[in-house]
Amino acid sequence: MRHSLIRKSEALDPTPIYAVNEASVDSVVGQLGLAAGNWVSRHGYKGEPGRTLVVPAAEGSQVAVLYGTDEVGLSSTFALGSLVTALPSGDYVFETPLPDIELGLLGFALSSYRFNRYRKSGGDLPRLVVPDDVDLERLYTVLDGVELARDLINTPANDLGPEELAAAITKLFEEHGGKGEVIVGEDLLERGFPMVHAVGRASANAPRLADFTWGDEKAPKVTLVGKGVIFDTGGLDIKPASAMTLMKKDMGGAANVLGLASMIMAAKLPVRLRVIVPCVENAISGNAFRPGDVLPSRKGLTVEIGNTDAEGRLVLADALALADEETPDLLIDMATLTGAARVALGPDLPPFYTEDDELAEEVAILSEASADPLWRLPLWQPYMKYLDSKIADINHINTSGVGFAGSITAALFLSRFVENTTAWVHFDIYGWTPIDKPGKPSGGEAQGIRCLFDLISEKYSS
Ligand code: BES
Ligand code: MN
Ligand code: ZN
Repeated sequence: MRHSLIRKSEALDPTPIYAVNEASVDSVVGQLGLAAGNWVSRHGYKGEPGRTLVVPAAEGSQVAVLYGTDEVGLSSTFALGSLVTALPSGDYVFETPLPDIELGLLGFALSSYRFNRYRKSGGDLPRLVVPDDVDLERLYTVLDGVELARDLINTPANDLGPEELAAAITKLFEEHGGKGEVIVGEDLLERGFPMVHAVGRASANAPRLADFTWGDEKAPKVTLVGKGVIFDTGGLDIKPASAMTLMKKDMGGAANVLGLASMIMAAKLPVRLRVIVPCVENAISGNAFRPGDVLPSRKGLTVEIGNTDAEGRLVLADALALADEETPDLLIDMATLTGAARVALGPDLPPFYTEDDELAEEVAILSEASADPLWRLPLWQPYMKYLDSKIADINHINTSGVGFAGSITAALFLSRFVENTTAWVHFDIYGWTPIDKPGKPSGGEAQGIRCLFDLISEKYSS
């Protein structure tokens, strides 16, 4: 993606793009010469919002692109992303000043993502010149983080098992001089992660927990926890085929926190970063955990299993309990946790949960500013009773018979494992874009991490 943005000095004879609307189109075309004028009228082009016209070179006139737009479309969305598929390869430069150039460039670059691991797709994509006053390094930092998240989600489980996911975390931290460990298999029991072990033990690929840190030990502690279920069959409560097709993306939370970690480390933010990711496959075998089992947990609470398909909250609970032990200044977890979150808000608007009203307000404001949509839902305490168990301290799912509020009850379950940390935010993400949109090619998606990068940058600037 970073290759789609270039400085003027690198551009090869860039083609000018003129943003036009129905009022301005005639005067702009007038300056391009007679042949251009004929071409434009032959195509019945009137500068309609969203419509792009490439005007070819003819004698005495220069090739140009007309980009129909309205103020609103340009300033509030990734509108420029549509140019990536509308334009032939080559270099382009915007002649018309844009109201929010950074978002425009971001949309363009985010649309240029292609997943090339198994097949080189298409030809070269267009490149866009970045004005001199734009912080290109920061844009690259963000783009690289998003790309990492998308790549990890798009990689299928046969090439990204628990071992490969943990290896990707190790590699990222080694690149930036961080350190940590991966606790594997039976060691999880000895070291106190019984639920990570229970969920992942039926897989041929041993479950593991990656725990890495980076940065100055005395700096504010920012801890990221991600759900790393590399594939979710549902376990013994097996999913129907239609619900399983996309389940390679069930490590989307892990992918997103790694994307965010990569931004934080590349930008060298003055924080002590910690990333904790349980890497497991929710598989089926004779030794799989079962409905009705009662599991011990790191926190000490006993947990009755209501449905083996609610596995994410179990592995997260042990990871969050670990994170909470040192009371970080900010604790963020991200997870493709519930289908209910998507039912409530759809695939493009992940809910987030926190008791910290100030933090929630900051997230909401930066989410809008960065065009990284997020919506707060409540940790509604009256629903906590839905998690009561007759034989254990808590059930991990709602067994009350009232089957509503699935995303909220999942968040409430997690909250039982975070005791000390006040600034804790949980994101129930979808991690996937179902159909192409400007800035969002279909496939694995980063959600919330551009917003969170802005938040952490602002909160802990040096
Ligand atoms: N990984 C799924 C949630 C999911 C499904 C996210 C589809 C995005 C799209 C999770 O492990 C799960 O299966 N959750 C169950 C919980 C239920 C059994 C209480 C769900 O949401 O149906
Ligand atoms: Mn599941
Ligand atoms: Zn899952």
